[in-house]
Amino acid sequence: MKNTEIKRREFLKQAAAGAAIGLAMPASRVLGANDRVRLGIIGPGARGQELMREFLKAPNAEFVAAADVYTRRHDEAKRLAPGIQTFNDHRRLLDLKDVDAVLVATPLHCHARHFLDVLAAGKDLYCEKTMTWSIPEAEACLEAARKSKRVVGIGLQHQSSGELVDAKTWLKDGIVGKITSVESWMGRNTPRGKGQWVRQVPADCTAANVQWDAFLNGRSRRPFDGNQFINWRLFWEFSGGNVTENMVHQVAWIMRALDLPLPTAAYMSGGVFSEKDGREVPDTIAATLDFPGDLVITWQSTFSNKHYGLGDRILGSHGSIERLQGVTDMVSGRSHSSLRYYPEKDNRADGVALEGQSKGTDHYANFVECVRSRKQPNASVEIGYRSAVVGHMANMSYRQKQRVTLESVGLTASR
Ligand SMILES: NC(=O)c1ccc[n+]([C@@H]2O[C@H](COP(=O)([O-])OP(=O)(O)OC[C@H]3O[C@@H](n4cnc5c(N)ncnc54)[C@H](O)[C@@H]3O)[C@@H](O)[C@H]2O)c1
Repeated sequence: MKNTEIKRREFLKQAAAGAAIGLAMPASRVLGANDRVRLGIIGPGARGQELMREFLKAPNAEFVAAADVYTRRHDEAKRLAPGIQTFNDHRRLLDLKDVDAVLVATPLHCHARHFLDVLAAGKDLYCEKTMTWSIPEAEACLEAARKSKRVVGIGLQHQSSGELVDAKTWLKDGIVGKITSVESWMGRNTPRGKGQWVRQVPADCTAANVQWDAFLNGRSRRPFDGNQFINWRLFWEFSGGNVTENMVHQVAWIMRALDLPLPTAAYMSGGVFSEKDGREVPDTIAATLDFPGDLVITWQSTFSNKHYGLGDRILGSHGSIERLQGVTDMVSGRSHSSLRYYPEKDNRADGVALEGQSKGTDHYANFVECVRSRKQPNASVEIGYRSAVVGHMANMSYRQKQRVTLESVGLTASR
């Protein structure tokens, strides 16, 4: 085992122990149905600021603090929520007594640290997807969440969609029949020469304005690198590429619709084909996921064509469920969507086509309401965990160039 891996495992053990100590702590305060929910945010970058706008629309919620390692974000967060306190170090935010719940929107490789620290501080938590950067981290976070009395919600907003409600109803009604295959895809495009996700490094993004060591979060020390800091998504040390950016949303949606356990195996191929711009994570992907009960899910993606947008097809002996969406915006995750059912005449001669009607719920207001009611949010830590493991197994398969089984990553289906 490499030294860094030992250190990471040690950190996780300590962090989980810290979270366990937090269990004994009473909630910051007991909230009544009409009480204002006071929010803090760690990492108000692009998605974090979008989250702030969304959470500010939730009834009776306000931001009181933000923590970010980049000074520019302090000013940006204050523009959205004037009067908030800002910190470089997230632990100072967690010291505040008047914070009920904390949103985590930092880069993927920081999620587990912030997840565990928030729980250890006795606060409720909304953590952006993908829940963690690795499987051991997902284990530690699931464990800590299960032991705690805290409300934990994950940034898998498709879990609040009306399409999930309708798909589950159709599946329960038995009009889809035996399902052996689910196909899922997403495509994006950019003008040639400009790679998907690439952001310009702002002039003020310098060593003086960024707590670089805190961003590295245990990765090997190196001089400040503005490109790695701003474009962290392109590098394995900080990211899981499009699997953890987008596959996770779709896989979590399918897993919830079909009530699936962890997969038995994952295979993934692809490469950096669209723009060879120095990125490490593949832009072209074909992932195959085997599930218990004779089911295969495939997910394909490219960054060189967006014609077919994003979609999922659940293929059954008695009918198909098709969920289609336009291209989703990277920051807001918003897109127009439709859900349809088509009967298979072989087995449902009288079946008719159906269109989903359910409206779904506001994902962000749902979390705030759960902080008051102590109920489980629409996107629970369980689906956060399971979808994270799927993504990591797929990425491991791509990187190791071999099939990755659940046993080979040290897990059992019962999780
Ligand atoms: N749910 C969705 O649809 C959705 C959409 C986009 C992004 N996301 C997720 O949101 C997260 C952030 O993505 P982004 O595009 O906003 O990235 P970003 O780089 O724009 O923002 C991350 C912020 O975290 C800050 N940061 C980095 N390390 C930190 C640390 N140790 N402590 C405190 N702050 C730190 C950075 O300065 C930055 O402001 C990612 O996990 C991403 O996958 C989710």
